Amino acid sequence: MLVRSAVIPAAGLGTRFLPATKAVPKELMPIGDTPAIQIIIDEALGAGIEHIVVVSSRTKPAIEQYFAPDDALVATLREKGKDDVADRLAAIGRDWRVTIAYQDNPRGLGHAVGCGREAVGDEPFAVLLPDELMGDSSLLAQMNGVCSSSGGSVVGVKEVPRDQVSSYGVLAPSAPIDEAGVIPVADLVEKPPVAEAPSDYIIIGRYVLTPDVFDEIANLEPGSGGELQLTDALRAQAARSPFHGVLARTSRHDTGNPLGFLEASIAFGLRDRSMGDELRAHLASLVV
Ligand code: G1P
Repeated sequence: MLVRSAVIPAAGLGTRFLPATKAVPKELMPIGDTPAIQIIIDEALGAGIEHIVVVSSRTKPAIEQYFAPDDALVATLREKGKDDVADRLAAIGRDWRVTIAYQDNPRGLGHAVGCGREAVGDEPFAVLLPDELMGDSSLLAQMNGVCSSSGGSVVGVKEVPRDQVSSYGVLAPSAPIDEAGVIPVADLVEKPPVAEAPSDYIIIGRYVLTPDVFDEIANLEPGSGGELQLTDALRAQAARSPFHGVLARTSRHDTGNPLGFLEASIAFGLRDRSMGDELRAHLASLVV
């Protein structure tokens, strides 16, 4: 079955980016000229997704504004001969469908994903956490394939040094990883103490989930940090259905803090054909 919708949780307050986020939602902060959330959306579209469900908050109206058509601006740009940027603006929400769902009372990632239930409907869907930027769509595309062939949910995975596992959801594999980087999963645990972590494989912010997860989310009790944890809903799925992790082989940037955001900006800038060479030369001149 095709994965058509992607849920992007974007209702957070962005406290780690204050004072910038007092006025500008973190998801709209630019990497070059592109809002971070658009890079996430482009990754989803590259994996065949056609419906973007943004879970936002009514305190962040700029998010809606970004997705609203602006025919007058597009026309002005065309009159000035700026067709490239006009095309980019016109494509927003036209070449793919966007639905805004609201999470007005932030109660955790599980709760945020549950707010997308009506928009997603009764079919498998992706979740992309916007604090993590991937180099391309290959991981999500592979995860979609594993979901179709196994009929169960799939998470993106990375191996980290043992002392870092407590910041993440951690997998308990039921068999070794295969050549394609696929790991069968028996159980998952959210932010375990290092001594209790079942492996060094952590969940990164990419998920392809079967829709029964919404019932598990509806039944969640507060977990780690007193929040309704998505990992706890996945744990219930893994206990009764096929469940897999897929190892990420693309580059990955954690943009959840200002240093990581800056690093991602530089990495994306270096890859950009219009400014990569100049940026590389400039960086070299700064660090000698
Ligand atoms: C969330 C998830 C966690 C996952 C992480 C990936 O945690 O709850 O399982 O490993 O994202 O970034 P958060 O970073 O929101 O605390």
